[in-house]
Amino acid sequence: GLPERVTIYEVGPRDGLQNEAAVVPARVKAEFIARLAAAGHRVIEATSFVHPKWVPQLADASELLTAMERVPGVRYPVLVPNERGLDRALEHGVEEIAVFASATETFAGRNLNRTLESQFDMFEPVVARALAHGLKVRAYVSMCFGDPWEGPTPIAQVVSVGRRLLDLGCFELSLGDTIGVGTAGHVAALIEAFGDPSRLAVHFHDTYGQALANTLTALREGVTVVDASTGGIGGCPYAESATGNLATEDLVWMLHGLGVETGLDLPSLVETSTWLAGRLGRPSPSRVVQALAGS
Ligand code: HMG
Ligand code: MG
Repeated sequence: GLPERVTIYEVGPRDGLQNEAAVVPARVKAEFIARLAAAGHRVIEATSFVHPKWVPQLADASELLTAMERVPGVRYPVLVPNERGLDRALEHGVEEIAVFASATETFAGRNLNRTLESQFDMFEPVVARALAHGLKVRAYVSMCFGDPWEGPTPIAQVVSVGRRLLDLGCFELSLGDTIGVGTAGHVAALIEAFGDPSRLAVHFHDTYGQALANTLTALREGVTVVDASTGGIGGCPYAESATGNLATEDLVWMLHGLGVETGLDLPSLVETSTWLAGRLGRPSPSRVVQALAGS
């Protein structure tokens, strides 16, 4: 069966904008986030407190959090890799953070400058301190299906990394297909290997056009939280061949077609995508946006 309702975890302002060639001004980011909340989003990942030299597109995280309006009832999580990032997030009264781990050795090195094992030395004090401050902590695992350097990722390795993050006290675990190589059978096998889908979310990049099929598979396996990005923008600068995320509009089209509630207004989302495409100077890669914009 399918869930009655799905929570869409919007990553456009973070995963989307982190991979754009152009750096978007903080006031445009703040307007983007306000438009997403007005369209009905209740979880909007706002930015990252990472090293500004690693991701210059999000170097204005402090400026954005100062400028941003907060709508009551909307969550605005931010990415935090280490204690320095947590300190910066706490200065802004952030209530929810997300740590991001790698399922593979090579990507742990490239994305975090750590080994598969030593990444946990970085996360443990972050999660402990964040929980002590009353924050909610989400965890991502990247490269859950395959990695450009190591090929397919063994399921047991993903489950091991994921369980360790949940055991630290993370309330939700988002399974990332960073380079979009996963297919539906692999998705089902991975979720079943975890045993309990209730704390799992899925995060598909659409490089191979599999994101919607993979999402539907995850929903049938009991997952009810799905990450998506406005207009399908996004990617990881430290992952070769990563392209955009599953487009929020494409996901909403499918879910509403299935009678699954999202709380989102599709015309408002399409309007926001079109507005954003104008700011980025390129059309949205979303098929639904292309079909509906101007119609
Ligand atoms: P490092 O170089 O090992 O850091 O980077 P360090 O701890 O050795 O510190 C070196 C210097 O950086 C120090 O300054 C620190 O203060 C500073 P110095 O003393 O030399 O003057 N520093 C910081 N400054 C500001 N904010 C910070 C911070 N941390 C250290 N937070 C680090 C380690 C993790 C920081 C670095 O590797 C990094 O920033 N990585 C982030 C990469 C990233 O953001 N990738 C994209 C997000 S992940 C993704 O997109 C995947 C996802 O979407 C899911 C999926 O698709 O699979 C989530
Ligand atoms: Mg991603």
